[in-house]
Amino acid sequence: MEMNSANVEEVVKQVLESMLKTPVSAAPAAASKSQAIPETAHVAMLTALEHYDIKEFPMPEVGDGDILVKVEGCGVCGTDAHEFKRDPFGLIPVALGHEGTGEIVKMGKNVKVDSAGKALKVGDKVVTCMIFKDDPDIEMFDLNKKNIGGADVYGLLPDDDIHLNGWFSDYILVREGSSIFNVSDLDLKSRILIEPCAVLVHAVERAKTTGILRFNSRVVVQGCGPIGLICIAVLRTMGIENIVAVDGNQQRLDFAKRMGAEKSVNFMDHKGIEALSDAVKDAFDGHLADFAFQCTGSPVAHANIYKFIRNGGGLCELGFFINGGDATINPHFDLCSKEITLVGSWVYTLRDYATTFDFLKRAKAIGLPMDELITHEFPLEQINEAHVTNLKQEGLKIAIVNK
Ligand SMILES: NC(=O)c1ccc[n+]([C@@H]2O[C@H](COP(=O)([O-])OP(=O)(O)OC[C@H]3O[C@@H](n4cnc5c(N)ncnc54)[C@H](O)[C@@H]3O)[C@@H](O)[C@H]2O)c1
Repeated sequence: MEMNSANVEEVVKQVLESMLKTPVSAAPAAASKSQAIPETAHVAMLTALEHYDIKEFPMPEVGDGDILVKVEGCGVCGTDAHEFKRDPFGLIPVALGHEGTGEIVKMGKNVKVDSAGKALKVGDKVVTCMIFKDDPDIEMFDLNKKNIGGADVYGLLPDDDIHLNGWFSDYILVREGSSIFNVSDLDLKSRILIEPCAVLVHAVERAKTTGILRFNSRVVVQGCGPIGLICIAVLRTMGIENIVAVDGNQQRLDFAKRMGAEKSVNFMDHKGIEALSDAVKDAFDGHLADFAFQCTGSPVAHANIYKFIRNGGGLCELGFFINGGDATINPHFDLCSKEITLVGSWVYTLRDYATTFDFLKRAKAIGLPMDELITHEFPLEQINEAHVTNLKQEGLKIAIVNK
């Protein structure tokens, strides 16, 4: 079949419809009473390094294909922390916040369904996924690759004359051509966690393509920030139990065990890579890992992780959403002679979003403490304090919640 952009979208829609076993729109969403929409919206704009201002902008017109969403909450991501500290994307002034969720308060007349074909109405709870760009080279060959090569995301867009471009705000305007999902059947904390969880659903899908990740695999998860912790949760919901968590923060390692890691290794307790590798081996009762996930953003960690993996094992590298610099590995010892299969993982696709909704329900059903990942909630006015708390690694997931 010849794939053009129109039937590609149709195929994605059909796949998503078949995946969404629970009709999200059938859930007991909040009554869709129409709300008075104020004349202005408040947006936390990062106007300088380490400084947000709350700016007030006129409420924009809602075009025929647009959706106005009243924001309920948004997680603070490691990427926001990088923008806050260094502005690596050169976006300042910018409306940040991409792990957001809220309630539809107004829709253009052409909006009928979400990106999975589910009905949308005022009052529905939604999240956005990426704004994919047309790329015929990718669409021709692999729909699963629409995530790479420069898709946009609300919360990392250049400022424009609408300004309501990020979820650290009280209203956001979701423009025609964006991807959006009706997630009315998920509670607020779960909805705030959708975006980072989709990162791990995608990473595990990438890992599965190696053919090495199996039920009884021994798996190392290196780095136990929110990303590594959610990685452990995704693995647990897949029935993978032999997981060893590695980090230097004991509090995070303790949480990793509650999230389902069998054992943990604190790298601060082991001097040198050989001792550290031995500690990982001990944790697996004398074996190296079959598979490893790199979730730190540290080049040193990337260089170390090969030493935790057995001959013929696999590695998923997902820890570098931001350029963290070069890592030094020995291609002879680390890759060739061990025949390591290495995959990189970059955000997610629409399919991964659909899988993530089910993952969140399953994780809770098997008793994983997903809600406890959100350790701090701040009102929008305290966005600067929220970021400072995040930088100090005082908690896990810090969220802005609008009461
Ligand atoms: N691939 C993607 O699409 C994607 C998406 C989101 C985030 N990320 C990346 O994932 C990384 C992790 O995100 P996070 O929010 O969990 O960050 P985080 O900073 O909260 O957590 C990183 C953890 O790694 C630990 N760590 C640092 N050096 C280590 C080492 N040598 N060995 C073991 N652990 C070490 C830290 O102690 C910390 O607990 C970030 O660098 C981010 O850029 C990637």
